[in-house]
Amino acid sequence: MGVIVSVTNQKGGVGKTVTVSSLASALNSQGYKVLSVDLDPQRNLDMVAGKGMAIKVGDVTTKSVLNVLKGECSLEEIIVPSSIGDLARASNLLSQWAGQPLITRTEFEKLSQEECFATMSKRYKEGWGENDHRVLKMKLAPVKDKYDFILMDTNPSLTLLTVNSLFAADYVLIPAFAEAASREAIIELWDTIRGMKAFNPDMRLQVAGILVTKFNKRNRNANGYVRVFEKMAKSMGTIVFQQKIRQGVSVTEYLTPQMDLLSYDTTGISSVDYKQFAKEFLERIHTMEEARKYG
Ligand SMILES: Nc1ncnc2c1ncn2[C@@H]1O[C@H](COP(=O)(O)OP(=O)(O)O)[C@@H](O)[C@H]1O
Ligand SMILES: [Mg+2]
Repeated sequence: MGVIVSVTNQKGGVGKTVTVSSLASALNSQGYKVLSVDLDPQRNLDMVAGKGMAIKVGDVTTKSVLNVLKGECSLEEIIVPSSIGDLARASNLLSQWAGQPLITRTEFEKLSQEECFATMSKRYKEGWGENDHRVLKMKLAPVKDKYDFILMDTNPSLTLLTVNSLFAADYVLIPAFAEAASREAIIELWDTIRGMKAFNPDMRLQVAGILVTKFNKRNRNANGYVRVFEKMAKSMGTIVFQQKIRQGVSVTEYLTPQMDLLSYDTTGISSVDYKQFAKEFLERIHTMEEARKYG
């Protein structure tokens, strides 16, 4: 059975893309069959999956996830091999398909939780068709069992793309820097998940855990936030992964040569941590799958 994982945080620049690409790379090199799906109109995952993988801005002749979501082709038709395993590429025009965010950050900060839910629910009904959040799940269904893992990289705001990804996924993995803004972003995502579950009782999504990225253990604030995240994780019924991804120089460089981090700098501290994290991730998913089966 293929396991579908959405790597999500409604905040940008927290390590989503480096996490998806490194995890895909690590799992792929261990012999797992992995499909990575780029759902971010910025196409960063496609860029790190190998030079020339990203579909150029405005190219409407090469098929992408956009064509799949628009119902113009199957997912299978757009899958290409890449340096991190199979890849379903994004188009910059995905942002047009995604439309307006369901809720903006300013609204989220200003409104009460009930008002947020009401606003989201209203826009959801007005702006999108009744089943628009189910499209990706339906499109993934025929390929699901051809893979051990399907990893989705998502866009930073709460749009139809994010909602599709969360609805399609069995698990969400939340990368976060150990800092105040990430704390807010985790709360935001947790509210989104609970809101979606309230409207969609058939949603399978469980939170696999929070992965602390760009970690500097000498920073006292960072250690404090890890403890805060641990408390939050507990109340969400999940965990903070033991393995943290340390802050490494190569993570700031690998996008330029358009390589995944593990290929760019095999022995760098962040790469070493991602390889170790891949082991913990496998154990965690195994435990959660067993619990689903027998629990
Ligand atoms: N472990 C890390 N060490 C150092 N910098 C990091 C690390 N993880 C992420 N970063 C920084 O954050 C940036 C954004 O990472 P990225 O994976 O592209 O985030 P997202 O996909 O969430 O927008 C990277 O280009 C890098 O500068
Ligand atoms: Mg990204």
